[in-house]
Amino acid sequence: MTSLSLSQTLHKSQTIARQAGDMLRGAFAGGMAMDTKSSETDMVTEFDTRAENLILERLRADFPEHGIVAEESGRTDRADSPYRWFIDPIDGTNNFAHGLPHFCVSIALYENQEPLVGVIYDPMRDEMFSATAGGGAHLTGPDGQAKPLRVSTTNALIRSLIVTGFPYDKHTSEKNNLPQFCAMTRRVRGIRRLGSAALDMAYVAAGRFDGYWEFKLNPWDIAAGYLLVTEAGGTVTTIDGKPLDIDMPKQALIVSNGPLHDEMASALHSIA
Ligand code: IPD
Ligand code: CA
Ligand code: CA
Repeated sequence: MTSLSLSQTLHKSQTIARQAGDMLRGAFAGGMAMDTKSSETDMVTEFDTRAENLILERLRADFPEHGIVAEESGRTDRADSPYRWFIDPIDGTNNFAHGLPHFCVSIALYENQEPLVGVIYDPMRDEMFSATAGGGAHLTGPDGQAKPLRVSTTNALIRSLIVTGFPYDKHTSEKNNLPQFCAMTRRVRGIRRLGSAALDMAYVAAGRFDGYWEFKLNPWDIAAGYLLVTEAGGTVTTIDGKPLDIDMPKQALIVSNGPLHDEMASALHSIA
């Protein structure tokens, strides 16, 4: 794949995510150009493009033989390589654009369908969530110490804190997650919508949330989070109980600590 080991590749990924995150922290709550994409609620700012360009430039320099799947640029570079980087330069763009300090940079390397490295960096809290295949998941906070991550042990939905999100076509599509949100709300201790799918998954890996589900997720939203959750001992499937296909656009996922997976699935399937 490359002359670098997994841990060296992880270190490079962390450095690149930090550089992009530093740019976003510097720009946060300042003036910025904005536009919309698929709908009035689907924002893009000049910093989505600038952060993505920075990440692409660094990855191309270090891994010229790899492919890239990036939210703003699509599939580029060596598209036929088995090694591909999945990049979300700002996950939580609506939060970023509104001056709400909850967003992240998400970067992952896959070999075909297998995740090798995943990093999710929250620049406002200086929290670096990272994982390598077989090497576990870790959180490095502002003190610089990497601590192992483990999912929660909650085994009943009624004692759980669950997070979800809503798709950008929620105004026009019937598949807008609102019935499922109501059904789940009646069964859990608490439910949240924070606005960053990647951080939602990182928080499941960290045991802050017991579970997460969402419809219409794209590969760059979930690529790093998938490795974080599985390396932290959690479970990720499609809503129908199938394994994740990282190339599938608009996937519906259930992400859990493991013990809650079936109960979450049956709550979601209680909707006709
Ligand atoms: C979005 C966020 C949001 C989720 C959407 C994603 P973006 O990503 O992760 O929480 O509900 O499904 O598309 O547009 O901020 O990169
Ligand atoms: Ca995203
Ligand atoms: Ca994004």
